[in-house]
Amino acid sequence: MNPVHKRTIAEAPATVSNVACGFDILGYAIDYIGDRIEIGINETPGLLINEIQGADLSFNPDENIVGVVAKKMLQQLDAVHVGLSFNINKRIHPGSGLGSSASSAVATAIGVNHLFDNPFDNSQLLEFAMSGEVIASQNYHADNVAPCLLGGFRLIRGYDPLDIVEIQYPSDLYTTIIFPQVEVKTAYARSLISEQIELKKAITQWGNVGGLISGLHSGDYDLISRSLVDVVAEPVRSDLIPHYDDIKTLGIQYDSIGVNISGSGPAIFILSKNGTGMDELINEARDIYSKDGIDLVAFTSKVSETGAYIVE
Ligand code: HSE
Repeated sequence: MNPVHKRTIAEAPATVSNVACGFDILGYAIDYIGDRIEIGINETPGLLINEIQGADLSFNPDENIVGVVAKKMLQQLDAVHVGLSFNINKRIHPGSGLGSSASSAVATAIGVNHLFDNPFDNSQLLEFAMSGEVIASQNYHADNVAPCLLGGFRLIRGYDPLDIVEIQYPSDLYTTIIFPQVEVKTAYARSLISEQIELKKAITQWGNVGGLISGLHSGDYDLISRSLVDVVAEPVRSDLIPHYDDIKTLGIQYDSIGVNISGSGPAIFILSKNGTGMDELINEARDIYSKDGIDLVAFTSKVSETGAYIVE
């Protein structure tokens, strides 16, 4: 197959995955930041990463998520004779817990798809993007790539076969992100989680997943708040995040709906109604981290309906 467009720019949003109780099965999109990938056609076959802005990542296409995803797509299209070049603008910090690798993987997937006039459907694009995620986390999971591609709040009901469910959520649901600038490698954060879960913990976890979905659907903020509890990942991962307990305390002080780890961290998400009180919370968080000399990226965003899109 041959491409029909010469060049494209694709953007894909940051995401919060796990959302407390939903380890590997829940995620939502943020409308504040997203990686941008520009893809052009080259005369010479093969993949060429021209430029990477915003992160220190490999220019070797076999070691960069962008190259891995694009190569798989070209193979499936029987188009390995086509040369592609990439300019990568990493606006989401790698190792932040905000779905940085998913964003690059998804932007690449929709960009390459666009160049060839959209031969792949969303479920195929998700599979391509997930194959890129494996590079970052050594694991196959869709809780970032699904909301990143499709937008909104998504449940991964099943992996085999992949079954993604759209979750309704209140329109005034906002998310604040507190991202202390320390790096947490997803693969390491995953290695902390036990393969076995005690039945008592499993009961607590699936009770909370059900409660969270029901609360989001009905707009019952008390139920959402009670359900934002994680007995699987948070207990073993929170120690990797400086001042995690302080941010949880601020969340209570400012009447948020809940506070937990975004993906594998170190970013922390806070859910609130309309973002009320979150500017003040962010100011207090800045004071806490600045005393330790830790830089902080913090912002408030709507839980966004918009997924990845073609800029041009
Ligand atoms: N669900 C994944 C994890 C998200 O927590 O390891 C990280 O990308």
